[in-house]
Amino acid sequence: MIEWKNDAGVVTLTLNDPSASANTMNDAYVEAMGRTVERLVAEKALLKGVIVTSAKSTFFAGGNLQLLSQIQPSDAAEVFTTIEEVKRQLRALETLGVPVVAAINGSALGGGLEIALACHHRIVADDNRIELGVPEVTLGLLPGGGGVTRTVRMLGLQDALMKVLLQGQRMKPAHALSVGIVDEVVPADDLVDAARRWITTYDGDSKQPWDRDGYKIPGGTPSSPKLAAFLPAFPANLRKQLKGAPYPAPRAIMSAAVEGTQVDFETASRIESRYFVSLATGQIAKNMIQAFFFDLQSINAGSSRPSDVPKYSARKVGVLGAGMMGAGIAYACAKAGIDVVLKDVSLEAAARGKEYSEKLLAKQVAKGRTSAADVEAFLSRITPTGDPNDLAGCDLVIEAVFEDTGLKQKVFAEIAGVVEPDALLCSNTSTLPITSLTDGIDRPDDFIGMHFFSPVDRMPLVELIVGEKTSDRAIAQAYDVVRQIKKTPIVVNDSRGFFTSRVFGTLVMEGAAMVAEGVDPVMIERAATQAGFPAPPLAMLDEVTLTLPQKIRDAARAAGDSAGAFDDHPGMAVTDRLVNEFDRRGKAAGAGFYDYPADGPKRLWPGLWEHFRQHNDVPLIDLQERMLFAMSLETVKCLEEGVLRSVPDANIGSIFGIGFPPLHGGALQYINGYGLSAFVERSRSLAAAYGARFEPPALLVSKAEAGEVWA
Ligand code: NAI
Repeated sequence: MIEWKNDAGVVTLTLNDPSASANTMNDAYVEAMGRTVERLVAEKALLKGVIVTSAKSTFFAGGNLQLLSQIQPSDAAEVFTTIEEVKRQLRALETLGVPVVAAINGSALGGGLEIALACHHRIVADDNRIELGVPEVTLGLLPGGGGVTRTVRMLGLQDALMKVLLQGQRMKPAHALSVGIVDEVVPADDLVDAARRWITTYDGDSKQPWDRDGYKIPGGTPSSPKLAAFLPAFPANLRKQLKGAPYPAPRAIMSAAVEGTQVDFETASRIESRYFVSLATGQIAKNMIQAFFFDLQSINAGSSRPSDVPKYSARKVGVLGAGMMGAGIAYACAKAGIDVVLKDVSLEAAARGKEYSEKLLAKQVAKGRTSAADVEAFLSRITPTGDPNDLAGCDLVIEAVFEDTGLKQKVFAEIAGVVEPDALLCSNTSTLPITSLTDGIDRPDDFIGMHFFSPVDRMPLVELIVGEKTSDRAIAQAYDVVRQIKKTPIVVNDSRGFFTSRVFGTLVMEGAAMVAEGVDPVMIERAATQAGFPAPPLAMLDEVTLTLPQKIRDAARAAGDSAGAFDDHPGMAVTDRLVNEFDRRGKAAGAGFYDYPADGPKRLWPGLWEHFRQHNDVPLIDLQERMLFAMSLETVKCLEEGVLRSVPDANIGSIFGIGFPPLHGGALQYINGYGLSAFVERSRSLAAAYGARFEPPALLVSKAEAGEVWA
């Protein structure tokens, strides 16, 4: 596990777990490090220095998340003892009395970086695949292996919190150097020599970057003037950032950091361990580890991609429609190095779509994130046109014209004989069943839904929709395209509204139903943000327009199917009335649930109180659980109907695509965390109080009875 090589008094410790492809903080590591540290202490009189490096492609992968996700509250004492032992070992290495240097040959995240932080000097190989950082906050945890205590003592409280701990950023070597968590970036083949050089030129305490026994805190304790100004406003800023949502990790990190500045190193370290244990034994960390580690890993590993299709890489894409979505899709493709032909009804209209990329790039230049030369190369990849014949040579087509079946069929017909004969054909429709669009298309097996989210440059998800005739080749290639443009693909079967729009609809319509019941609209919106939704339901309904539910209902009625159509949903009475009686159609029309004054921020329309409010004070917990349950129950229905194909797709799709609160780990993980039987019981009580839409689907009931969870 830890190889030992003594070369003229310089010991190289090579981390190398034989049982796994990466080193993690498992029992074998703790045992091996214990023995290694003992030997170092015993032989220290003969040592000149220690180099810590790794035989794996990553330096050290950090905590073992499989083990972490199984921790129960009753394990708290044991977890505390283990983490204290890990830290005792690192502290022994740090206070050994000889220089210790980390030669970081691969990514060092979480516990991996914490090992390196316990060394006196960190040298990292100059390789852009390497990531450094403590991303624990993104998994509902804090860096409990000394990460909080040491970064605060190295960088000062403010920089440690703002640049490292609360962001959880994964940094490339140059970025890590500028932040100060590593000391040198050297060519990969010089790494071990550079470490050796640092040891041989090391000059006792005089060159030690800080006093390793006591660690002075740069910027001083909270009583120093700079910090005194920063600290009082900090909790309020944090609350604002979190919008009142109950995320315990940022609070715990901040508390551990601030409390740690008041005491000596050892006490600070124990405080950090206690906060770590409180997070690790809670449900939120389990939810977030499930979604952001296991589910994401499964999707990125291609669990939903048909495996027998060769890997595909798009060269030239034709984007049909240069409106809001088409312009964003063109930007995302060009960013990934794909040539784009951007087609609209005229060259002028298409050029306006290209301007969108120009504006985004100009902002990046202003922020110093990209150079003028890169902008030129980027823009040269986008060719605007009004002529379908310019799509010659395209091996991929993504359509984003108006939401109209006839128009979509027409634009595909126009390019049928122009593009490559086996070009992948994709539609970005947000509501129309994919199979209905393939009428008249001579290659329906090459046709697939590729549903982006707005704004395309920022939204990480793409929903791939498999029509009745879509081939495995098309699914695999569409999956590869989404990965090529660095987004996350979920794969679902065709249905009205697919998965995301259907489930999103249940949330916003639940908000409208609450208005119908006479609940104070301020309470509705506040309940959502405090439950962790990134945006509240009435504001979101305004964004997508209040006529959308009507359109979906009309289309569903015309097609004679009701799934996902909200036909008898109580929220429909409210959207219908706002549109028909008050001509309030949403944000684009300047009036919806909100007013949009030109001279200030949006505010809820006073007419909501006049025409709808009936002093019906539904308890806050009911408001919140109705939104969460509506989405989770619809997700189960999608699974039951075969629209969803996997649990990871459900969890990740609900968080990345439609804002299901990340702290619950996604729409199905929320049910797991709640407990399936308790969830069924609560669904029934919500159904009795608020309507049959909360009745638990048969699949949920049978799963609860079988004592299973969604996995
Ligand atoms: P938009 O109205 O901004 O853009 C549509 C564009 O299509 C316009 O520029 C129009 O000139 C162009 N167009 C019309 N006929 C054309 C033709 N024959 N050839 C080429 N271009 C033509 O609409 P938006 O919002 O970009 O939506 C486009 C599609 O994306 C729709 O199917 C919509 O449902 C879907 N979608 C929209 C989302 C959104 O948030 N707006 C999200 C996801 C999907």
